[in-house]
Amino acid sequence: MAAILVVDDEYLILESLEMFLSEKGHSVVTAETGADGLRQYFRYHPHVVLLDIRLPDRNGLEILKTILAAPHPAKVIMMTAFQDMETTIEAMKSGAYDYLSKPLDIDEVERALERAIRLALAERNDQKPSVEVLTTSRDVMIGKSPAIREIFKTIGMLCRNQATVLIQGETGTGKELIARIIHQNSPFSEQPMITLDCSAIVETLLENELFGHSKGAFTGAVENRPGKIELAGKGTLFLDEVTEMPLSVQGKFLGVLERREFMRVGGANIHKSLCRIISATNRNIEGCVRQGKFREDLYYRLKVVTIHVPPLRERRCDIPELAEYFLKKAAATLGVEARQFEAGVMERLCEHPWSGNVRELKHVIMAATLRSRGSIVLGEDIEQELDTSIHDTATVSSNFRLDSGEREQIRNALSHTGWNRSRAARLLGISLPTLRAKIARYGLSPDLSQQEGAKA
Ligand SMILES: Nc1ncnc2c1ncn2[C@@H]1O[C@H](COP(=O)(O)OP(=O)(O)OP(=O)(O)O)[C@@H](O)[C@H]1O
Ligand SMILES: [Mg+2]
Repeated sequence: MAAILVVDDEYLILESLEMFLSEKGHSVVTAETGADGLRQYFRYHPHVVLLDIRLPDRNGLEILKTILAAPHPAKVIMMTAFQDMETTIEAMKSGAYDYLSKPLDIDEVERALERAIRLALAERNDQKPSVEVLTTSRDVMIGKSPAIREIFKTIGMLCRNQATVLIQGETGTGKELIARIIHQNSPFSEQPMITLDCSAIVETLLENELFGHSKGAFTGAVENRPGKIELAGKGTLFLDEVTEMPLSVQGKFLGVLERREFMRVGGANIHKSLCRIISATNRNIEGCVRQGKFREDLYYRLKVVTIHVPPLRERRCDIPELAEYFLKKAAATLGVEARQFEAGVMERLCEHPWSGNVRELKHVIMAATLRSRGSIVLGEDIEQELDTSIHDTATVSSNFRLDSGEREQIRNALSHTGWNRSRAARLLGISLPTLRAKIARYGLSPDLSQQEGAKA
Protein backbone atom coordinates (compact mmCIF):
# COMPACT_ATOMS: atom_id res chain seq x y z
CA MET A 1 0.00 0.00 0.00
CA ALA A 2 1.58 3.22 -1.13
CA ALA A 3 0.79 6.69 -2.39
CA ILE A 4 1.65 7.06 -6.06
CA LEU A 5 1.63 10.07 -8.34
CA VAL A 6 1.35 9.50 -12.08
CA VAL A 7 2.28 12.37 -14.39
CA ASP A 8 1.56 11.85 -18.05
CA ASP A 9 -0.23 13.88 -20.69
CA GLU A 10 -1.61 10.79 -22.41
CA TYR A 11 -5.08 10.40 -21.07
CA LEU A 12 -5.23 6.68 -21.81
CA ILE A 13 -2.03 5.96 -19.94
CA LEU A 14 -3.16 8.00 -16.96
CA GLU A 15 -6.48 6.34 -16.87
CA SER A 16 -5.25 2.79 -17.20
CA LEU A 17 -2.43 3.24 -14.69
CA GLU A 18 -4.80 4.88 -12.28
CA MET A 19 -7.24 2.01 -12.50
CA PHE A 20 -4.57 -0.63 -12.34
CA LEU A 21 -2.83 0.88 -9.34
CA SER A 22 -5.99 1.69 -7.41
CA GLU A 23 -7.07 -1.85 -7.92
CA LYS A 24 -3.84 -2.98 -6.33
CA GLY A 25 -4.88 -0.98 -3.30
CA HIS A 26 -2.61 2.01 -3.81
CA SER A 27 -3.69 5.60 -3.44
CA VAL A 28 -3.25 7.21 -6.80
CA VAL A 29 -3.06 10.86 -7.72
CA THR A 30 -2.71 11.93 -11.35
CA ALA A 31 -1.59 15.00 -13.24
CA GLU A 32 -1.58 15.77 -16.94
CA THR A 33 0.96 18.56 -16.93
CA GLY A 34 4.31 19.15 -15.31
CA ALA A 35 3.07 22.13 -13.33
CA ASP A 36 0.17 20.19 -11.96
CA GLY A 37 2.44 17.23 -11.28
CA LEU A 38 4.69 19.32 -9.07
CA ARG A 39 1.75 20.87 -7.33
CA GLN A 40 0.34 17.41 -6.53
CA TYR A 41 3.76 16.20 -5.50
CA PHE A 42 4.27 18.86 -2.88
CA ARG A 43 0.74 18.53 -1.71
CA TYR A 44 0.73 14.77 -1.18
CA HIS A 45 4.34 13.68 -0.87
CA PRO A 46 3.74 10.36 -2.60
CA HIS A 47 6.12 7.44 -2.12
CA VAL A 48 6.60 6.89 -5.80
CA VAL A 49 6.19 9.07 -8.88
CA LEU A 50 5.67 7.67 -12.35
CA LEU A 51 6.83 10.51 -14.55
CA ASP A 52 6.64 10.91 -18.28
CA ILE A 53 9.66 12.63 -19.80
CA ARG A 54 7.76 14.47 -22.47
CA LEU A 55 5.15 16.72 -21.00
CA PRO A 56 3.34 19.53 -22.78
CA ASP A 57 4.58 22.31 -20.52
CA ARG A 58 7.87 21.14 -19.04
CA ASN A 59 10.59 18.63 -19.46
CA GLY A 60 10.24 15.65 -17.14
CA LEU A 61 13.91 15.93 -16.26
CA GLU A 62 13.39 19.37 -14.80
CA ILE A 63 10.63 17.99 -12.66
CA LEU A 64 12.78 15.08 -11.59
CA LYS A 65 15.43 17.51 -10.43
CA THR A 66 12.94 19.62 -8.50
CA ILE A 67 11.62 16.53 -6.75
CA LEU A 68 15.06 15.23 -5.87
CA ALA A 69 16.20 18.59 -4.54
CA ALA A 70 13.50 18.69 -1.86
CA PRO A 71 13.85 16.77 1.43
CA HIS A 72 12.75 13.11 1.58
CA PRO A 73 12.25 12.75 -2.15
CA ALA A 74 9.99 10.09 -3.63
CA LYS A 75 11.32 7.30 -5.81
CA VAL A 76 10.84 8.54 -9.35
CA ILE A 77 10.27 6.11 -12.18
CA MET A 78 10.57 7.78 -15.55
CA MET A 79 8.45 6.68 -18.47
CA THR A 80 9.72 7.28 -21.93
CA ALA A 81 9.24 6.38 -25.55
CA PHE A 82 12.10 4.46 -27.11
CA GLN A 83 13.43 7.44 -29.00
CA ASP A 84 14.04 9.22 -25.71
CA MET A 85 16.97 6.92 -24.99
CA GLU A 86 19.47 9.72 -24.50
CA THR A 87 17.21 11.46 -22.08
CA THR A 88 16.67 8.22 -20.23
CA ILE A 89 20.35 7.85 -19.60
CA GLU A 90 20.48 11.37 -18.39
CA ALA A 91 17.52 10.72 -16.18
CA MET A 92 19.19 7.74 -14.56
CA LYS A 93 22.31 9.79 -14.02
CA SER A 94 20.26 12.51 -12.41
CA GLY A 95 18.92 10.10 -9.86
CA ALA A 96 15.75 8.58 -11.30
CA TYR A 97 15.05 5.32 -9.56
CA ASP A 98 14.13 3.41 -12.69
CA TYR A 99 12.79 3.93 -16.17
CA LEU A 100 10.17 2.19 -18.21
CA SER A 101 9.85 2.37 -21.93
CA LYS A 102 6.61 2.89 -23.73
CA PRO A 103 4.45 1.13 -24.74
CA LEU A 104 4.32 0.12 -21.10
CA ASP A 105 4.37 -3.50 -20.13
CA ILE A 106 2.15 -3.85 -17.14
CA ASP A 107 4.22 -6.61 -15.54
CA GLU A 108 7.28 -4.46 -15.85
CA VAL A 109 5.44 -1.52 -14.30
CA GLU A 110 4.42 -3.73 -11.43
CA ARG A 111 7.91 -5.06 -10.80
CA ALA A 112 9.52 -1.65 -10.92
CA LEU A 113 6.87 -0.21 -8.65
CA GLU A 114 7.06 -2.98 -6.15
CA ARG A 115 10.78 -2.43 -5.64
CA ALA A 116 10.42 1.33 -5.51
CA ILE A 117 7.61 1.14 -2.97
CA ARG A 118 9.48 -1.27 -0.70
CA LEU A 119 12.46 1.00 -0.71
CA ALA A 120 10.46 4.17 -0.22
CA LEU A 121 8.58 2.68 2.71
CA ALA A 122 11.75 1.39 4.31
CA GLU A 123 13.48 4.73 3.88
CA ARG A 124 10.67 6.73 5.31
CA ASN A 125 10.55 4.22 8.07
CA ASP A 126 6.86 4.62 8.46
CA GLN A 127 4.20 2.69 6.69
CA LYS A 128 1.80 5.57 6.39
CA PRO A 129 1.74 8.27 3.74
CA SER A 130 1.89 11.70 5.32
CA VAL A 131 -1.46 13.03 4.24
CA GLU A 132 -4.60 11.77 5.89
CA VAL A 133 -6.72 11.46 2.77
CA LEU A 134 -4.17 9.20 1.20
CA THR A 135 -4.17 6.63 3.95
CA THR A 136 -6.57 3.99 2.88
CA SER A 137 -7.51 3.55 6.48
CA ARG A 138 -9.99 0.95 7.50
CA ASP A 139 -13.50 1.71 6.42
CA VAL A 140 -16.13 2.68 8.92
CA MET A 141 -19.78 1.87 8.70
CA ILE A 142 -22.05 4.10 10.71
CA GLY A 143 -25.40 3.03 12.08
CA LYS A 144 -27.22 1.79 15.15
CA SER A 145 -30.52 0.71 13.66
CA PRO A 146 -31.44 -2.92 14.32
CA ALA A 147 -30.89 -3.78 10.63
CA ILE A 148 -27.35 -2.35 10.65
CA ARG A 149 -26.51 -4.01 13.96
CA GLU A 150 -27.63 -7.30 12.45
CA ILE A 151 -25.28 -6.64 9.50
CA PHE A 152 -22.38 -6.01 11.91
CA LYS A 153 -23.06 -9.38 13.50
CA THR A 154 -23.05 -11.11 10.14
CA ILE A 155 -19.78 -9.40 9.23
CA GLY A 156 -18.32 -10.57 12.53
CA MET A 157 -19.37 -14.10 11.79
CA LEU A 158 -17.83 -13.94 8.33
CA CYS A 159 -14.41 -13.06 9.79
CA ARG A 160 -13.77 -16.66 10.60
CA ASN A 161 -14.49 -18.22 7.24
CA GLN A 162 -14.31 -17.68 3.51
CA ALA A 163 -18.03 -18.13 2.85
CA THR A 164 -19.52 -16.68 -0.32
CA VAL A 165 -21.67 -13.61 0.29
CA LEU A 166 -24.44 -11.92 -1.67
CA ILE A 167 -25.24 -8.31 -0.73
CA GLN A 168 -28.53 -6.85 -1.87
CA GLY A 169 -29.85 -3.35 -1.48
CA GLU A 170 -30.84 -0.21 -3.35
CA THR A 171 -28.23 2.03 -4.88
CA GLY A 172 -26.13 3.93 -2.34
CA THR A 173 -27.04 1.81 0.67
CA GLY A 174 -23.44 0.77 1.35
CA LYS A 175 -23.02 -2.59 -0.36
CA GLU A 176 -19.51 -1.96 -1.53
CA LEU A 177 -18.60 -0.52 1.85
CA ILE A 178 -19.82 -3.71 3.51
CA ALA A 179 -17.79 -5.82 1.08
CA ARG A 180 -14.66 -3.85 1.98
CA ILE A 181 -15.30 -4.21 5.69
CA ILE A 182 -15.79 -7.95 5.35
CA HIS A 183 -12.49 -8.11 3.53
CA GLN A 184 -10.67 -5.94 6.06
CA ASN A 185 -11.86 -8.12 8.89
CA SER A 186 -11.05 -11.43 7.27
CA PRO A 187 -7.98 -13.51 8.11
CA PHE A 188 -6.67 -12.70 4.62
CA SER A 189 -7.03 -8.93 4.83
CA GLU A 190 -3.44 -8.43 3.75
CA GLN A 191 -4.29 -10.16 0.48
CA PRO A 192 -5.92 -8.08 -2.27
CA MET A 193 -9.54 -7.25 -2.68
CA ILE A 194 -10.24 -7.11 -6.38
CA THR A 195 -13.40 -5.60 -7.81
CA LEU A 196 -15.05 -6.48 -11.06
CA ASP A 197 -18.01 -4.43 -12.18
CA CYS A 198 -19.96 -6.88 -14.31
CA SER A 199 -21.95 -4.12 -15.97
CA ALA A 200 -18.98 -2.09 -17.07
CA ILE A 201 -17.50 -4.30 -19.74
CA VAL A 202 -18.46 -6.37 -22.72
CA GLU A 203 -19.01 -10.11 -22.59
CA THR A 204 -15.76 -11.35 -24.10
CA LEU A 205 -13.68 -8.98 -22.06
CA LEU A 206 -15.47 -9.91 -18.87
CA GLU A 207 -14.51 -13.54 -19.34
CA ASN A 208 -10.98 -12.45 -19.98
CA GLU A 209 -10.92 -10.22 -16.93
CA LEU A 210 -12.24 -12.96 -14.68
CA PHE A 211 -10.21 -15.91 -15.88
CA GLY A 212 -7.23 -14.27 -17.57
CA HIS A 213 -5.84 -15.64 -20.80
CA SER A 214 -2.86 -17.49 -22.08
CA LYS A 215 -0.57 -16.26 -24.78
CA GLY A 216 -2.08 -16.68 -28.24
CA ALA A 217 -5.62 -17.29 -26.96
CA PHE A 218 -6.77 -14.64 -29.41
CA THR A 219 -5.25 -11.95 -31.61
CA GLY A 220 -3.66 -9.48 -29.27
CA ALA A 221 -3.07 -11.96 -26.46
CA VAL A 222 0.67 -11.54 -26.63
CA GLU A 223 1.39 -12.77 -23.15
CA ASN A 224 -0.02 -14.87 -20.37
CA ARG A 225 -2.21 -12.77 -18.18
CA PRO A 226 -3.81 -13.70 -14.90
CA GLY A 227 -7.45 -12.87 -14.40
CA LYS A 228 -9.07 -11.28 -11.39
CA ILE A 229 -9.75 -14.59 -9.69
CA GLU A 230 -6.03 -15.24 -9.66
CA LEU A 231 -5.12 -11.69 -8.77
CA ALA A 232 -7.35 -11.85 -5.71
CA GLY A 233 -5.20 -14.67 -4.33
CA LYS A 234 -6.63 -15.73 -1.00
CA GLY A 235 -8.26 -12.33 -0.67
CA THR A 236 -11.64 -11.20 -1.95
CA LEU A 237 -13.16 -11.01 -5.39
CA PHE A 238 -15.97 -8.46 -5.36
CA LEU A 239 -18.42 -8.91 -8.21
CA ASP A 240 -20.39 -5.71 -8.45
CA GLU A 241 -23.69 -5.53 -10.37
CA VAL A 242 -23.58 -9.30 -10.60
CA THR A 243 -26.98 -9.57 -12.34
CA GLU A 244 -25.36 -7.98 -15.38
CA MET A 245 -23.05 -10.94 -15.89
CA PRO A 246 -23.89 -12.42 -19.32
CA LEU A 247 -25.36 -15.93 -19.27
CA SER A 248 -22.37 -17.45 -21.06
CA VAL A 249 -20.02 -16.15 -18.37
CA GLN A 250 -22.43 -17.20 -15.61
CA GLY A 251 -22.11 -20.81 -16.75
CA LYS A 252 -18.34 -20.68 -16.60
CA PHE A 253 -18.32 -18.88 -13.31
CA LEU A 254 -20.57 -21.49 -11.77
CA GLY A 255 -17.72 -23.94 -12.35
CA VAL A 256 -15.46 -21.79 -10.22
CA LEU A 257 -17.90 -21.90 -7.33
CA GLU A 258 -18.60 -25.61 -7.67
CA ARG A 259 -15.12 -26.94 -8.18
CA ARG A 260 -12.99 -24.02 -6.99
CA GLU A 261 -11.08 -24.47 -10.24
CA PHE A 262 -10.83 -22.67 -13.54
CA MET A 263 -8.73 -22.29 -16.66
CA ARG A 264 -7.44 -19.17 -18.33
CA VAL A 265 -9.01 -18.38 -21.71
CA GLY A 266 -7.09 -20.48 -24.23
CA GLY A 267 -5.09 -22.09 -21.44
CA ALA A 268 -4.57 -25.73 -20.66
CA ASN A 269 -3.67 -25.65 -16.99
CA ILE A 270 -6.15 -25.92 -14.20
CA HIS A 271 -5.87 -23.17 -11.60
CA LYS A 272 -7.26 -23.28 -8.08
CA SER A 273 -9.48 -20.45 -6.98
CA LEU A 274 -8.71 -19.53 -3.38
CA CYS A 275 -10.49 -16.22 -2.88
CA ARG A 276 -13.73 -15.37 -1.16
CA ILE A 277 -16.44 -14.24 -3.52
CA ILE A 278 -18.68 -11.38 -2.53
CA SER A 279 -21.26 -10.26 -5.04
CA ALA A 280 -23.61 -7.32 -4.94
CA THR A 281 -26.62 -6.07 -6.81
CA ASN A 282 -29.10 -3.24 -6.54
CA ARG A 283 -31.52 -5.08 -8.79
CA ASN A 284 -34.04 -7.72 -7.94
CA ILE A 285 -31.95 -10.81 -8.51
CA GLU A 286 -34.83 -13.19 -7.80
CA GLY A 287 -36.75 -11.42 -10.58
CA CYS A 288 -33.80 -11.88 -12.93
CA VAL A 289 -33.82 -15.59 -12.06
CA ARG A 290 -37.56 -15.84 -12.80
CA GLN A 291 -37.09 -14.08 -16.13
CA GLY A 292 -34.34 -16.50 -17.07
CA LYS A 293 -31.70 -13.76 -17.13
CA PHE A 294 -29.79 -15.15 -14.20
CA ARG A 295 -29.02 -18.81 -13.62
CA GLU A 296 -30.82 -20.22 -10.64
CA ASP A 297 -27.99 -22.61 -9.74
CA LEU A 298 -25.52 -19.73 -9.74
CA TYR A 299 -27.87 -17.64 -7.60
CA TYR A 300 -27.95 -20.37 -4.94
CA ARG A 301 -24.18 -20.71 -5.01
CA LEU A 302 -23.73 -16.97 -4.55
CA LYS A 303 -26.15 -16.57 -1.67
CA VAL A 304 -24.58 -18.88 0.88
CA VAL A 305 -24.75 -15.88 3.18
CA THR A 306 -27.01 -13.01 2.19
CA ILE A 307 -26.96 -9.49 3.51
CA HIS A 308 -29.90 -7.27 2.80
CA VAL A 309 -29.19 -3.59 3.33
CA PRO A 310 -32.43 -1.69 3.88
CA PRO A 311 -32.93 1.70 2.23
CA LEU A 312 -32.15 4.71 4.41
CA ARG A 313 -35.83 5.76 4.63
CA GLU A 314 -36.50 2.50 6.48
CA ARG A 315 -33.87 3.24 9.11
CA ARG A 316 -34.18 6.94 9.66
CA CYS A 317 -32.72 6.66 13.16
CA ASP A 318 -29.32 6.25 11.44
CA ILE A 319 -29.57 9.64 9.73
CA PRO A 320 -28.32 11.96 12.54
CA GLU A 321 -25.18 9.97 13.19
CA LEU A 322 -24.50 9.60 9.47
CA ALA A 323 -25.03 13.32 8.93
CA GLU A 324 -22.61 14.29 11.72
CA TYR A 325 -20.08 11.81 10.41
CA PHE A 326 -20.22 13.14 6.84
CA LEU A 327 -20.02 16.71 8.10
CA LYS A 328 -16.79 15.95 9.98
CA LYS A 329 -15.45 14.08 7.02
CA ALA A 330 -16.34 16.87 4.61
CA ALA A 331 -14.62 19.44 6.79
CA ALA A 332 -11.50 17.28 7.07
CA THR A 333 -11.36 16.50 3.35
CA LEU A 334 -11.93 20.08 2.36
CA GLY A 335 -9.49 21.31 4.96
CA VAL A 336 -11.96 23.70 6.56
CA GLU A 337 -12.79 24.26 10.19
CA ALA A 338 -15.16 21.89 11.95
CA ARG A 339 -18.76 22.77 11.36
CA GLN A 340 -22.15 22.35 12.88
CA PHE A 341 -25.64 22.21 11.49
CA GLU A 342 -27.99 25.07 12.11
CA ALA A 343 -30.92 24.24 14.37
CA GLY A 344 -33.70 22.50 12.47
CA VAL A 345 -31.43 21.08 9.78
CA MET A 346 -31.29 17.64 11.34
CA GLU A 347 -35.07 17.37 11.41
CA ARG A 348 -35.18 18.27 7.74
CA LEU A 349 -32.55 15.65 6.93
CA CYS A 350 -34.48 13.04 8.87
CA GLU A 351 -37.63 13.70 6.83
CA HIS A 352 -36.14 13.64 3.35
CA PRO A 353 -36.97 10.51 1.27
CA TRP A 354 -33.32 9.83 0.30
CA SER A 355 -34.03 7.80 -2.80
CA GLY A 356 -30.27 7.79 -3.42
CA ASN A 357 -29.79 6.52 0.14
CA VAL A 358 -26.57 7.10 2.08
CA ARG A 359 -24.70 8.19 -1.03
CA GLU A 360 -27.19 10.98 -1.59
CA LEU A 361 -27.00 12.07 2.04
CA LYS A 362 -23.23 12.14 1.79
CA HIS A 363 -23.33 14.23 -1.43
CA VAL A 364 -25.77 16.70 -0.02
CA ILE A 365 -23.70 17.24 3.10
CA MET A 366 -20.43 17.48 1.18
CA ALA A 367 -21.92 19.99 -1.21
CA ALA A 368 -23.60 22.01 1.54
CA THR A 369 -20.32 22.14 3.44
CA LEU A 370 -18.62 23.50 0.33
CA ARG A 371 -21.36 26.05 -0.04
CA SER A 372 -21.40 27.27 3.54
CA ARG A 373 -18.83 29.92 4.29
CA GLY A 374 -18.88 30.10 8.05
CA SER A 375 -18.70 27.48 10.71
CA ILE A 376 -22.42 26.68 10.52
CA VAL A 377 -24.08 24.74 7.74
CA LEU A 378 -27.32 26.61 7.29
CA GLY A 379 -30.71 25.23 6.45
CA GLU A 380 -30.56 27.07 3.13
CA ASP A 381 -27.24 25.46 2.20
CA ILE A 382 -28.86 22.08 2.65
CA GLU A 383 -32.09 23.17 0.96
CA GLN A 384 -30.20 24.27 -2.16
CA GLU A 385 -28.45 20.94 -2.35
CA LEU A 386 -31.64 18.98 -1.81
CA ASP A 387 -33.08 20.93 -4.74
CA THR A 388 -30.30 19.98 -7.06
CA SER A 389 -29.56 16.55 -5.65
CA ILE A 390 -29.38 14.09 -8.53
CA HIS A 391 -31.65 11.70 -6.71
CA ASP A 392 -34.36 14.11 -5.74
CA THR A 393 -37.53 12.75 -7.28
CA ALA A 394 -38.93 16.24 -7.69
CA THR A 395 -36.19 17.19 -10.12
CA VAL A 396 -35.97 13.96 -12.05
CA SER A 397 -38.60 15.18 -14.49
CA SER A 398 -36.53 18.21 -15.35
CA ASN A 399 -33.38 17.02 -17.06
CA PHE A 400 -31.91 20.44 -17.29
CA ARG A 401 -31.99 21.05 -13.57
CA LEU A 402 -30.89 17.54 -12.89
CA ASP A 403 -27.85 17.96 -15.08
CA SER A 404 -26.95 21.42 -13.95
CA GLY A 405 -27.10 20.33 -10.31
CA GLU A 406 -24.97 17.29 -10.89
CA ARG A 407 -22.55 19.14 -13.11
CA GLU A 408 -22.11 21.72 -10.39
CA GLN A 409 -21.49 19.08 -7.72
CA ILE A 410 -18.90 17.40 -9.88
CA ARG A 411 -17.23 20.67 -10.78
CA ASN A 412 -17.04 21.64 -7.12
CA ALA A 413 -15.58 18.34 -6.09
CA LEU A 414 -12.99 18.50 -8.88
CA SER A 415 -11.92 22.01 -8.10
CA HIS A 416 -11.65 21.24 -4.40
CA THR A 417 -9.44 18.25 -5.05
CA GLY A 418 -7.33 20.15 -7.56
CA TRP A 419 -8.68 17.90 -10.32
CA ASN A 420 -7.56 14.80 -8.56
CA ARG A 421 -10.12 12.48 -10.08
CA SER A 422 -9.73 9.58 -7.66
CA ARG A 423 -10.25 11.86 -4.68
CA ALA A 424 -13.13 13.64 -6.36
CA ALA A 425 -14.79 10.32 -7.16
CA ARG A 426 -14.37 9.26 -3.54
CA LEU A 427 -15.75 12.57 -2.38
CA LEU A 428 -18.79 12.20 -4.61
CA GLY A 429 -19.20 8.55 -3.73
CA ILE A 430 -19.12 7.41 -7.35
CA SER A 431 -16.68 5.18 -9.16
CA LEU A 432 -13.77 6.57 -11.10
CA PRO A 433 -15.05 5.35 -14.49
CA THR A 434 -18.45 6.91 -13.73
CA LEU A 435 -16.77 10.19 -12.86
CA ARG A 436 -14.76 10.10 -16.07
CA ALA A 437 -17.90 9.47 -18.08
CA LYS A 438 -19.61 12.39 -16.38
CA ILE A 439 -16.63 14.70 -16.92
CA ALA A 440 -16.80 13.87 -20.61
CA ARG A 441 -20.57 14.22 -20.72
CA TYR A 442 -20.56 17.63 -19.07
CA GLY A 443 -17.50 18.78 -21.01
CA LEU A 444 -15.65 19.68 -17.82
CA SER A 445 -11.98 20.54 -17.92
CA PRO A 446 -9.51 21.96 -15.43
CA ASP A 447 -9.44 25.69 -15.08
CA LEU A 448 -6.06 26.53 -16.60
CA SER A 449 -5.72 29.92 -15.00
CA GLN A 450 -6.07 28.22 -11.63
CA GLN A 451 -3.35 25.72 -12.51
CA GLU A 452 -0.99 28.42 -13.62
CA GLY A 453 -1.55 30.29 -10.39
CA ALA A 454 -0.76 27.19 -8.40
CA LYS A 455 2.61 26.49 -9.99
CA ALA A 456 4.84 25.27 -7.22
N1 LIG B 1 -23.52 3.13 6.95
C1 LIG B 1 -22.64 3.90 6.31
N2 LIG B 1 -21.70 4.57 7.02
C2 LIG B 1 -20.81 5.38 6.39
N3 LIG B 1 -20.77 5.55 5.07
C3 LIG B 1 -21.66 4.89 4.32
C4 LIG B 1 -22.62 4.03 4.89
N4 LIG B 1 -23.38 3.50 3.90
C5 LIG B 1 -22.90 4.01 2.75
N5 LIG B 1 -21.87 4.84 2.99
C6 LIG B 1 -21.13 5.62 1.97
O1 LIG B 1 -22.06 5.96 0.95
C7 LIG B 1 -21.48 5.83 -0.34
C8 LIG B 1 -22.23 4.81 -1.16
O2 LIG B 1 -22.00 3.51 -0.63
P1 LIG B 1 -21.64 2.26 -1.57
O3 LIG B 1 -20.79 2.67 -2.70
O4 LIG B 1 -21.15 1.18 -0.71
O5 LIG B 1 -23.10 1.96 -2.12
P2 LIG B 1 -23.63 0.73 -3.01
O6 LIG B 1 -24.68 0.08 -2.23
O7 LIG B 1 -22.48 -0.09 -3.47
O8 LIG B 1 -24.32 1.53 -4.22
P3 LIG B 1 -24.53 1.10 -5.78
O9 LIG B 1 -25.59 0.04 -5.81
O10 LIG B 1 -24.98 2.36 -6.42
O11 LIG B 1 -23.21 0.61 -6.27
C9 LIG B 1 -20.03 5.45 -0.10
O12 LIG B 1 -19.28 6.62 -0.10
C10 LIG B 1 -20.06 4.80 1.27
O13 LIG B 1 -18.83 4.90 1.91
MG1 LIG C 1 -21.68 -0.26 -5.42
